[in-house]
Amino acid sequence: MPNKNNKIIFALLIWLSAGVANAADSIAGQTRSEVCQGCHGVQGNNRNQGVPNLGGQSAIYLEAQLNNYKGGVRENPVMKSMTATLGDPDIQDISAYFASQPASTAGGDAKLAEKGKAKATMCMGCHGGNFLGLGGRPRLAGQHPEYLDKQLHDFKTGARSGPAMNAVAKTLSDEDIREIAAYLGSLGQ
Ligand code: HEC
Ligand code: HEC
Repeated sequence: MPNKNNKIIFALLIWLSAGVANAADSIAGQTRSEVCQGCHGVQGNNRNQGVPNLGGQSAIYLEAQLNNYKGGVRENPVMKSMTATLGDPDIQDISAYFASQPASTAGGDAKLAEKGKAKATMCMGCHGGNFLGLGGRPRLAGQHPEYLDKQLHDFKTGARSGPAMNAVAKTLSDEDIREIAAYLGSLGQ
């Protein structure tokens, strides 16, 4: 039945070409993200405490956050305007680019970090044993403590929504947050 075989081959070709068209292109993402690099750093890592490091972050997580800013689910005026003109392929390419870059370490106050270490064990189940991230749950290792501190407070008050994190952050005191953030920031690559 050559006719049937042809149909199968044709269907396979369509499926394959759709796959190629959807594949994120990190080279295109590098060019498309030039405007982002001014704040986040060429490889996604920077020294500004309030601006998150993106190098080595999970691509799934980055895509979700860019869509959240664009759609207003996560509120931030700068990131809202930065994402306003990005289409789905831009978001996928840019996320693939930053995810493919080496991670950095921000460093954190050593005394606080020491206290935060034990408190952070409860986060490992979701963020991974070394805090390198797991699927849609972000990498936290090496992130700026000040940025982490702000996000944890935002989850706690509900200013940033994420059901799992809203529940977790409610159990943390200001002191817990400061110490855990310092510990996570102090972790290496
Ligand atoms: C003017 C500085 C600036 C520029 C330019 C900028 N960002 Fe941001 N970005 C920030 C700040 C500040 C935050 C933290 C906002 C918050 O608290 O939610 C952020 C947050 C993010 C996050 C969330 C990271 C995380 O760990 O959740 C992503 C992803 C991101 N930016 C990607 C981009 C991309 C992609 C571009 C370019 C299209 C871009 N940014 C341009 C300042 C900037
Ligand atoms: C039940 C799973 C779960 C647990 C436990 C958990 N997290 Fe999360 N965390 C998530 C998810 C999912 C996200 C992404 C939320 C979103 O989509 O904005 C997240 C996001 C975060 C972010 C935002 C990172 C960024 O780059 O903006 C921080 C900070 C964070 N978690 C810290 C912690 C800390 C500290 C603990 C332990 C005290 C913890 N998490 C425990 C699931 C979890």
